[in-house]
Amino acid sequence: MKVLLIGSGGREHALAWKLRQSPFLSKLYAAPGNAGIGDLAECVPIGAEEIDRLIQFAREKEIDLTLVGPEAPLVAGIVDGFQQEGLKIFGPSRTAAQIEGSKIFAKELMVRAGVPTAEFKIFDKAADAKHYLVESEPPFVIKADGLAAGKGVEVVDTCEEAVEVITRFMERESLGAAGKRVLVEERLEGEEVSVLVLTDGENIIPLAGAQDHKRVFDKDRGPNTGGMGAYSPCPFLSNEDFNKVLDRTVRPVLATLAREGKPYRGVLYAGLMLTKNGPSVLEYNCRFGDPETQAVLPRLKSDLLPIFLEISAGRIPSTSLDWDERSSVNVVLASGGYPGAYSKGIPISGLVETGGRDDTFVFHAGTARNEKGEVVTSGGRVLSVTALGETLKAAQERVYQAVYQIRFEGAHFRRDIARKALESVRS
Ligand code: AMP
Ligand code: GLY
Repeated sequence: MKVLLIGSGGREHALAWKLRQSPFLSKLYAAPGNAGIGDLAECVPIGAEEIDRLIQFAREKEIDLTLVGPEAPLVAGIVDGFQQEGLKIFGPSRTAAQIEGSKIFAKELMVRAGVPTAEFKIFDKAADAKHYLVESEPPFVIKADGLAAGKGVEVVDTCEEAVEVITRFMERESLGAAGKRVLVEERLEGEEVSVLVLTDGENIIPLAGAQDHKRVFDKDRGPNTGGMGAYSPCPFLSNEDFNKVLDRTVRPVLATLAREGKPYRGVLYAGLMLTKNGPSVLEYNCRFGDPETQAVLPRLKSDLLPIFLEISAGRIPSTSLDWDERSSVNVVLASGGYPGAYSKGIPISGLVETGGRDDTFVFHAGTARNEKGEVVTSGGRVLSVTALGETLKAAQERVYQAVYQIRFEGAHFRRDIARKALESVRS
């Protein structure tokens, strides 16, 4: 099978690595890919959001299946576009992808489906939002409705901060159209976990649970990022709880979407807060998580390609997945300044020493090759390193051994990935 993989991050490198192990794969293309993906696939210089060019490419090369990494093309309707041309593609339709594309759509859906989620109010006028905030008790979470590349959610402690966020999102339009409408949410407390399922709209195949680390600094300090590291499995969610969580947070939204004529096919990511009153949904994503995918796929023994193909045809195979019992830990190395402004083109050393092991994987997240052929930085999150270990502790030790060998100027990473899990297991 000829497969086209769309995207250029660590998630896509992990997907490319997984696809390459499938006996059904004959050729892998990546658009646009990165320096690491380039070792596994033929990279083509087409951006992930250039839907017409991607369709043209898939037609010319007679691609059997297209797999989409990032949310933006899904929300823009890439799946509908491919399907209109008779091309097979794995992912939700434009309408179903609204579950990530509009936080208000997702909240209203959760209410209709009876899914537990934080209390919220919707505003389309800044003055109304500000009036509400000064009359209410902080803390708040303020969310821009639309896609904002990870910059659309702010957790604030005071009314003044909240009002400032409203000014920025709604009046100064710092996020463009994404901030025209906002949600003000009750702030929840608890452990966050990411639950992902493959689905045909009705039946589901769950992936192993993982926990992301969203804040940039150790001990969950500093601003939110796309994710600074993850590990799997997650001790905060037992096998028994896992099924209950799926029954409360995933199955009802799929059933509601199907009933309303918007069946959701693809991978659905539920970001949950495990509160003292049970699981509560923070958000849904219409795609694989990054870096959760880099933590989860190295533990997966089953082939995903036949499952992707069957879901893209509208049916799910009657199968469950086979997992490596070992634990994984993933650590992201980021550019100096990330999640704020950062430079690109900085040479990376130490990559060769870390490659080529079967328990350590260096996935590229934001890399490119310069004119000398050297691997250089080209994004905020640069590398995403995963190790497997007999225990979570062993995986953690192994991943940091690899991380400490990699060097580039300004590099920073969290030194405490999986620490909370290890502490909870000890207590
Ligand atoms: P989201 O994009 O909605 O997942 O939000 C990004 C991050 O903001 C989440 O991973 C949480 O850490 C935090 N967050 C979002 N909603 C809430 C909430 N209602 N209460 C507490 N934290 C939240
Ligand atoms: N790791 C968070 C996300 O993929 O949205």
